[in-house]
Amino acid sequence: MNKFITFEGMDGAGKSTHLTWFAEALRARGHEVVVTREPGGTPLGEQLREILLHQPMSIGTEALLMFAARLEHIEQVIRPALQAGQWVLSDRFTDATFAYQGGGRGMDWAKLTELEHWVHADLQPDLTLFFDVPVEVARQRLSANASLDRFEQEQADFFERVRAGYHRRVAQHPQRYALIDASVSLGEVKSKLEQVLTSI
Ligand code: TMP
Repeated sequence: MNKFITFEGMDGAGKSTHLTWFAEALRARGHEVVVTREPGGTPLGEQLREILLHQPMSIGTEALLMFAARLEHIEQVIRPALQAGQWVLSDRFTDATFAYQGGGRGMDWAKLTELEHWVHADLQPDLTLFFDVPVEVARQRLSANASLDRFEQEQADFFERVRAGYHRRVAQHPQRYALIDASVSLGEVKSKLEQVLTSI
């Protein structure tokens, strides 16, 4: 049975590299796989991504635009692919809004929960791979990047709150997550992913 799998973690956790490997591994098993991302994944979503990553705005606007892009993404990409029997791998989904806008920016958790119910009450990922790293490790990896976006430019305390936001979310729905220590070598992360693959 096809599944909806999301990849989460702080900037610098390395999730996007692991997503590419995971998609290839699923394809090698004969599955049809759609790889997508948030914010983004649709023409409108990608335009919203540009704005979200580079333009200053209020916290509420940021959260609403994340969910606006998500609604479009769900309707245009995620649901149709799932209905067609394809696997959907998304580089981030609603957990990121709880972590970044809820944890990082301090937006009210209950308000985000209301938005989540409004936008996708009947849809949750079947599995979320949460790539967890200490903030210092993530920041070291990011420092190799020449141009940082509005989120990546935030300070360590912001990322500590993002990480705490992710952990709060995991604690609320523990059965949905595979917790992956992403501070270890790529090879070690990959062998953990191989274990996850055999379990789904
Ligand atoms: P990416 O660099 O992993 O593609 O994600 C882009 C940035 O958007 C990342 O710094 C996290 C942020 N983001 C949020 O703040 N809230 C969200 O809901 C999503 C999906 C991403």
